[in-house]
Amino acid sequence: MNNQNNITPQINREGFSLNKSGNLEFDRCELVKLAQKYGTPCYIFSENIIRRKCRQYTSAFTKRNIDFEVIYAGKAFLVKAMCHILKEEGLGLDVSSGGELYTALSAGFPPDKIFFHGNNKSKVEIEFALKEKVGTMMVESEYELDLIDQIAESLNTKVRIILRVTPGIDTHTHKYIQTGQVDSKFGINIDQVPSFMKKVLSKEHISYNGLHFHLGSQIFDLSPYVLAIKEMVKLIRKIKDLEGVDTLNLNLGGGLGVKYLESDLPPSIENFVNLMVDNVENEVGKNNLMMPKILMEPGRSIVAEAGITLYTIGNIKEIPGVRKYLIMDGGMADNPRPILYEAKYEAVLVNKINSNLPEEVVTIAGKCCESGDILIKDLKLPSASPGDLLAVFTTGAYHYSMSSNYNRLSRPAVVLVNQGKDDLIVKRETYADIVRNDTKPEWFK
Ligand code: LLP
Repeated sequence: MNNQNNITPQINREGFSLNKSGNLEFDRCELVKLAQKYGTPCYIFSENIIRRKCRQYTSAFTKRNIDFEVIYAGKAFLVKAMCHILKEEGLGLDVSSGGELYTALSAGFPPDKIFFHGNNKSKVEIEFALKEKVGTMMVESEYELDLIDQIAESLNTKVRIILRVTPGIDTHTHKYIQTGQVDSKFGINIDQVPSFMKKVLSKEHISYNGLHFHLGSQIFDLSPYVLAIKEMVKLIRKIKDLEGVDTLNLNLGGGLGVKYLESDLPPSIENFVNLMVDNVENEVGKNNLMMPKILMEPGRSIVAEAGITLYTIGNIKEIPGVRKYLIMDGGMADNPRPILYEAKYEAVLVNKINSNLPEEVVTIAGKCCESGDILIKDLKLPSASPGDLLAVFTTGAYHYSMSSNYNRLSRPAVVLVNQGKDDLIVKRETYADIVRNDTKPEWFK
């Protein structure tokens, strides 16, 4: 699936090619045909890219000859077909709610390979997880530790836990997606962990299995990981000195950045893994500790570039001398990232990929009733008309999973493509789906 030489520069991205007739394909499926078959807006995922990214993680670790587990962060994109792929690729799964757990179990994903995250797991969620024999519960607070211990006691079981620690490290990413800094709602602050350990070890129904941190997301500068690993290994030493216990697992979270724009140059997965392993080995050696099993939780770097969104252009509004808006049949309901994080995207006009039409600078707007519903500001495209098809790149992570029914729009279909084959993995919502949970109070007769 290498890009062909004759491809126009703006689509020199993984999975894209032009067929003999000059039509744009993704994982060898013609995009115009997919839009005709499934309608728009529509998310398209390349199975080959997802699998390749999974394998880039596992093979980078395998080459290092250490004990590891790659745990996909389900919050990025989780549907049953994705669980099936992850199971085949041998990855673990991080779920952060009962809903994600239910998705995984209903797809036959092995519960012992599931890690249950969340900074306020409910009693119902914990009971569900323990009854289903989820492999590891992540613990973020004393409140949660007590709750898990009580529920484990009532079920007469012992639960493996990993403590989520906030290492107090800042990252250079949008403030809404930083998580490792001191002032964070997540995890246990690193200074409080040594005293907290006593409580953990005193619990009869809890088995201490390791430590976790997660610094943030869409990270390009990896130096904060180096600092965090140093602090975490010092903490492992302290726990060993104070309590005499070994920390068997060290989970480094996710966070590796991806390419949204042509100019984005994220570190490769292999370099990321190597840097992590080098630093853990180094710090563990310096502190005279055994090498823990290394866990990582990538989400975005596995699915982001495997997904694109197709839209059909409808209304075109030109304000002479000011701006030309091309208005899509979707918007912030299927992609809330621009309005939440001012995220930037690039896109192409699929059906005019080889046209000689003059180019112009336009703004890609959504159809939701908000002025802020702008997907891309100032994008250069060939002259567009209503009915043209737009493909937005890198919409695989945190798009479908964060989509909404705002304005009672139906969530789009999700299609999986693989070397010329295509099939639905999530049906487009119908109007009936939109009202399926609406009820009337009994006095509305
Ligand atoms: N592990 C934990 C505990 C996390 O909270 C996250 C993401 C990950 C792993 C995966 O991180 P990744 O490899 O995907 O960067 N909605 C935001 C991103 C929020 C990330 C939340 N946590 C966005 O669209 O940019």
